Amino acid sequence: MGTTLAVAGKGGVGKTSFSALLIRALVDAGKTPLLAIDADSNSNLHEVLGVNEPRSVGCVREETRKMGDNIPGGMTKDRFIEYQIQASLEEGRHFDFLSMGRPEGPGCYCMANNILREVIARLTSNYSYVVIDNEAGMEHLSRRTEEEVDHLFIISDPAPRSLRTIGRIAELIDELGGRIHNKHLVISRVTGFPEDLAESIQTEIAKLPYPPESFVPYDEALVDLDLKGEPLLKIPENAASYIAVRELLDKIGVLNSGGK
Ligand SMILES: Nc1ncnc2c1ncn2[C@@H]1O[C@H](COP(=O)(O)OP(=O)(O)O)[C@@H](O)[C@H]1O
Ligand SMILES: [Mg+2]
Repeated sequence: MGTTLAVAGKGGVGKTSFSALLIRALVDAGKTPLLAIDADSNSNLHEVLGVNEPRSVGCVREETRKMGDNIPGGMTKDRFIEYQIQASLEEGRHFDFLSMGRPEGPGCYCMANNILREVIARLTSNYSYVVIDNEAGMEHLSRRTEEEVDHLFIISDPAPRSLRTIGRIAELIDELGGRIHNKHLVISRVTGFPEDLAESIQTEIAKLPYPPESFVPYDEALVDLDLKGEPLLKIPENAASYIAVRELLDKIGVLNSGGK
């Protein structure tokens, strides 16, 4: 089994940017084969990675559902879904990319979901590293408890309200138990030194269930790329946000080992 890294937090805190920096760091360190999964239906991970938007898994599921029992070529439904998902994989030079698309809608079948879970588990087992950019909602996280996650990064910006949210997410994850082996709180978009953060922010940080393991600086280089609509993978090697993410991966042993 490879190493799975997942990114969570509420909307707008910097999850997708952080995921892109993670992917860049893994690719730079030669940690491949790597699969990037966009599991946020409102997301744009493909844009920050500079890859085409593939047909999503949600789409495959919907199309298969509409076919009913008319699966072409005498294939089983299982096999057909597997084949279609393989076909929707965007294969890049440094990593592959899969988009989950919409979460379950009213017409969704549990059977299809079980098949999906299996197919995705099989697919991800072909990779040494899997990075998942998750949806903001907590219910989404609770649905993911079946999956093995080696490192979950819970991201927040420094606003006290956001910090209270990650506190709750972290507690929820503890209650769920599940298969999340390591959790890391990350404060993103930090201006100045962490120790110089406003009193109100320090107070919220002190209340978190675990101390943050990384402070990712507010980074003009990242904002610049974003404004130009360029992929964040192009971020310069000496960009402050990228250095912070690399240091975090190093600290938790992802960059300097063969795996977990
Ligand atoms: N380290 C950072 N420095 C400056 N701006 C950032 C940083 N990380 C994220 N942002 C900006 O914050 C906004 C939200 O980021 P995004 O990664 O899309 O969040 P999410 O995926 O959580 O919704 C974007 O405009 C992005 O450019
Ligand atoms: Mg996002």
